[in-house]
Amino acid sequence: MSRSIFTPVQIKSMVCPNRILRSATWEALSDKDGFMSKKQFDIYCELAENNIGLICTGYARISRDEYPNAGMMGIYDDCFIPQYKELTDKVHTFGSSVMMQIAYGGTKTTYETDNRVIFAPSDVPEKSTGLVGITMTVLDIKDMIEKYASAAERVKKSGFDAVEIHGGHSYLLNQFLSPYYNNRADEYGGNLENRYRIVDEIIKAIRQRVGEEYPILIKVTCSDFFENGLTFNESLSICRMLVQSGIDAIEVSGNIHGKAQKMAGQEFDGHKILKGGYFYEYAKEIADAISIPVYVTGGFSDPALMEKYMGESAIAGFGMSRPFLCEPNLVSRWMAGDLSASKCLHCSRCRTPKGNYCTVFRKPVV
Ligand SMILES: Cc1cc2nc3c(=O)[nH]c(=O)nc-3n(C[C@H](O)[C@H](O)[C@H](O)COP(=O)(O)O)c2cc1C
Ligand code: SF4
Repeated sequence: MSRSIFTPVQIKSMVCPNRILRSATWEALSDKDGFMSKKQFDIYCELAENNIGLICTGYARISRDEYPNAGMMGIYDDCFIPQYKELTDKVHTFGSSVMMQIAYGGTKTTYETDNRVIFAPSDVPEKSTGLVGITMTVLDIKDMIEKYASAAERVKKSGFDAVEIHGGHSYLLNQFLSPYYNNRADEYGGNLENRYRIVDEIIKAIRQRVGEEYPILIKVTCSDFFENGLTFNESLSICRMLVQSGIDAIEVSGNIHGKAQKMAGQEFDGHKILKGGYFYEYAKEIADAISIPVYVTGGFSDPALMEKYMGESAIAGFGMSRPFLCEPNLVSRWMAGDLSASKCLHCSRCRTPKGNYCTVFRKPVV
C-alpha cells in the first residue's frame, strides 16, 4: 500500500488508523488538583468520534506541586487512573488511539510562581518569563526520573495506547538539553551527551515500568531558535541518541510555534520555516536520518500538502493542534471527500480564562 495520511501506522503495540495526530493541547479545563472536567471528557469524545488516528492529551503534570499553567491534567497519583480509564475506554469505542503527554514544566511559567517549588537545570532566567528556578541536585534529578517513570506506568494502567514525554517548548527537559539553560558542571551538564543524560535515564526508567512493547514517544524541538541555544545539528544528534535509548517515535516541533506563522520564509539553522508546515524541512532531515517513525507538528492544515510531504520524505505523520480547536471534525470532513484545508487562521486567539477554545469560529464549551 502506498503511504498516505489516511493509511494506518503501527508503533509497537499501538495501531493508529491514520497518520493524523492531534498534538497535545492543554485545555485549561481540569480542576486545581488535575482531575478532568466533563467538558474536557466531551472534547476527547468529539475528537475520537471524528476519526483522528492518534489523539494526544494536553500535558499532564507528573508532580503535585508543579504546573506551568492552570487547569492542567494530573498524573502524579494513582487516584487519577479510574477517570482516565473511563476516558480511554470511551475513545477506543470510536477506533482512535490515544496517548497521554507527561510533563514537568519549570521556569517557563508566570503561574503562581511565589507559592511553588520550580526546578531548573541551572540558575539561568527563562527568556520569556525571567524566572530563575531552583538548581536541581543530583538527588532532585533522580527523584524527577522516578516521577516520570511512575507517571508513565499510570498512563499505561489508565488504558492509554502510548505515553509521550514532553521534551520541547523550553520546559524542563528542553532546558537540560539546551546549552543556554544548562551550565551544570556535573554529569548532567556540559557536552551534549551529558545534557542528554536525564532524558536517556527517563526513557530507560519508563521502559522498565511499561515493558518492551509499550510505545514511548517524545516531543522535541528542532532548534531553540535563538543564538547560543540548542541548534538543529544538536537536535538531530539528540534524535539519533533517542533511538539508542529506546524511544519508539519522535514528534518534531519548534519552540517558536506561536509566532512561526509570521516568521514563514525566514531561514534559521540551515532550514527554512515554511508557511504550510513550519518545521517540515527540519523534520524531513531527521526522518531521513533515523529508523523510527517521525511526526511533525506546527502550521499544517492542507491535506494535499501533507500528502506531498509524505511522498517526498520518510515522515510518518502530521500533528495538528489549533486546526482541531477550530474544526474537531476535520479528519471526518476530509474522509468524506471535502479535502479543503482547515479554516484555522493560526492566529493563536484560542486561550481564554474559560478554557482554550477557538474564539474565532467556535463558541465556548458549555
Ligand atoms: C491552546 C494550546 C494548548 C497547547 N498545549 C500544549 C501541550 O499541552 N503540550 C504541547 O506539547 N504542546 C501544546 N501546544 C502546542 C501544540 O501541540 C502545537 O505544537 C502547536 O500549536 C503548533 O501546532 P498547530 O500549528 O497545529 O497549532 C498547545 C497549543 C495550543 C494552541
Ligand atoms: S483562535 Fe485562531 S488559531 Fe485558534 S483555533 Fe481559532 S482560528 Fe485557529
